[in-house]
Amino acid sequence: MRIVLVGPPGAGKGTQAAFLAKNLSIPHISTGDLFRANISQGTELGKQAKAYMDAGNLVPDEVTIGMAKDRMSQPDAVGGFLLDGFPRNVGQAEALDEMLKGEGVQLDAVLDLEVPEDEVVKRIAGRRVCRNNSAHVFHVTYSPAKAEGVCDECGGELYQRDDDSEETVRKRLEVYHTQTEPIIDYYRSQGLVVTISALGKVTDVTARAMEALQVDKAAQA
Ligand code: AP5
Ligand code: MG
Repeated sequence: MRIVLVGPPGAGKGTQAAFLAKNLSIPHISTGDLFRANISQGTELGKQAKAYMDAGNLVPDEVTIGMAKDRMSQPDAVGGFLLDGFPRNVGQAEALDEMLKGEGVQLDAVLDLEVPEDEVVKRIAGRRVCRNNSAHVFHVTYSPAKAEGVCDECGGELYQRDDDSEETVRKRLEVYHTQTEPIIDYYRSQGLVVTISALGKVTDVTARAMEALQVDKAAQA
């Protein structure tokens, strides 16, 4: 399956993607995680991305689209993928459509995670991620690591993301509403959008998502 996950910052895209990718046997591709890996490795791409991310702005399309296409072209993504954080504006959605068209394949669904803004703020305020891999995500109250400050998955140090300050989160939410939400209408016109509530326990949200994706798949069959 080829799935796009969309939702505001802190909605739980990364958290859900980890489980959904495993259930569906497809790779989880997060452009945010790819940028953070580049930043921690000190690459040129990471240097270009950091200032935009710290300000809560989108990294320019010229940088982002190439990086995302490159990742989607890796052998593990040939049969499908779960995109988290890409596309993030209509230009990126059009570039993705063009790429998939060139390969003779198409998206199966766009899973839209709905969460009220006050909950998003609570989720981001308590989020801790692993320095080795920002896809390892915890929350000080909702899903604490077994040992404080230590990643359950790999033993890495847990830290608060640089863009999780209150001011940057406000900016990221504004960018989400103005630049990313329009892709929901873009995909709705293609009949691809499935909206679910992302409130409740992580496992309940995953079950809801799996059900919604299967319903969508059946509807297309
Ligand atoms: P990115 O890393 O994609 O950040 P984001 O979209 O703002 O989303 P987050 O990662 O903050 O939240 P999430 O929805 O993954 O939530 P999570 O699962 O962690 O992008 C960062 C930056 O990179 C962008 O601002 C931009 O600069 C740049 N960028 C990335 N992609 C780009 C693109 N395509 N174009 C241009 N620029 C791009 O969950 C949050 C917390 O809640 C966690 O602590 C978790 O444990 C907790 N939680 C999750 N689910 C639940 C639940 N059900 N109940 C209770 N707690 C929960
Ligand atoms: Mg994320």
